[in-house]
Amino acid sequence: MKVVIPGGSGQVGTILARAFLAAGHEVIVLSRQDRSAPWRVVRWDGETADEWCTELDGADVVINLAGRSVNCRYTPANRRAIKESRVRAIRVIGDAIARASRPPRVWLQASTATIYAHRYDAANDEATGLLGGSEPATPDTWRFSIDVATSWESAARESITPRTRKVLLRSAIILSPDRGGPFDLLLRLVRCGLGGQAGDGRQYVSWIHDQDFTRAILWLIEQDGFEGAVNVAAPNPVTNGEFMGSLRAAWGIRFGLPAATWMLEIGAVLLRTETELILKSRRVVPGRLLEAGFTFQFPAWSEAARDLCERHRRLLAR
Ligand SMILES: NC(=O)c1ccc[n+]([C@@H]2O[C@H](COP(=O)([O-])OP(=O)(O)OC[C@H]3O[C@@H](n4cnc5c(N)ncnc54)[C@H](OP(=O)(O)O)[C@@H]3O)[C@@H](O)[C@H]2O)c1
Repeated sequence: MKVVIPGGSGQVGTILARAFLAAGHEVIVLSRQDRSAPWRVVRWDGETADEWCTELDGADVVINLAGRSVNCRYTPANRRAIKESRVRAIRVIGDAIARASRPPRVWLQASTATIYAHRYDAANDEATGLLGGSEPATPDTWRFSIDVATSWESAARESITPRTRKVLLRSAIILSPDRGGPFDLLLRLVRCGLGGQAGDGRQYVSWIHDQDFTRAILWLIEQDGFEGAVNVAAPNPVTNGEFMGSLRAAWGIRFGLPAATWMLEIGAVLLRTETELILKSRRVVPGRLLEAGFTFQFPAWSEAARDLCERHRRLLAR
């Protein structure tokens, strides 16, 4: 297959590009910069139809991950960039697909599990889940993320690509042993003795092991007729307290200093990020994937954590 990945130079794109290449597929990453990679990298600016559009003509799959990182303070300028970069990229990709004489058969579009409401009482699947934003006392930063996710999905739905199946990936946090990714950051906290629960530890963490993520993506590509929003998350979200406890156990560290909400707020300002990424309760389950028969190799966090720690140890030893 020929797979084109706009915005594929980040954490998620690298996981996917590596897996597709290893499986013998042709991979093209669209990037705003010249980059050297084991796959072909083609320049684009994320907003203008240009030479890169020819790469979509005759491609089998497009997986769009492009957009300004959400790991920053949500200042007015950053908010604009986060939202506009995503919507602009979708529109220009949609136009390029619409104009292609041999359009890709499937377009997988990044969205996020953050689209669902902050809740503890029940899990959100695609059919019965509550979209977020109107919960009482939702912080403005959380409402912003939901607004980004809904604008992202609306822009993709509005693109008219009748010959291309569209799937919206409401992905949970994707955990791989790679350096600099979210798992690496969490493990650093654990290794420094700071891997206790965050806030009251009751908030849910939805997560997915990198190998299940790539398997789910390949599976979605193959499922003719599977369209629309899909939760790409392991079937067993856990509370933050359990999540950090299992990670400590997997790494072999007994104690982790807990971080109170006020400490996290200060830390987030110093690290130029937002506490939403840690404090929002994301209780999201893969209703459609399970119903359609997808099986997870790592459905439980304790086993996933052990595997990720082992692979991370091997990386450190290199
Ligand atoms: N990581 C997760 O666990 C997770 C979970 C759910 C959803 N997501 C979503 O999935 C997507 C990929 O995640 P990621 O962690 O790989 O993100 P990332 O590391 O931030 O990578 C996204 C890529 O988008 C490109 N980009 C940045 N600013 C842009 C702009 N203004 N216009 C066009 N392209 C721009 C960058 O590529 P170049 O600099 O090469 O152009 C960057 O490598 C993101 O949209 C993210 O919100 C991620």
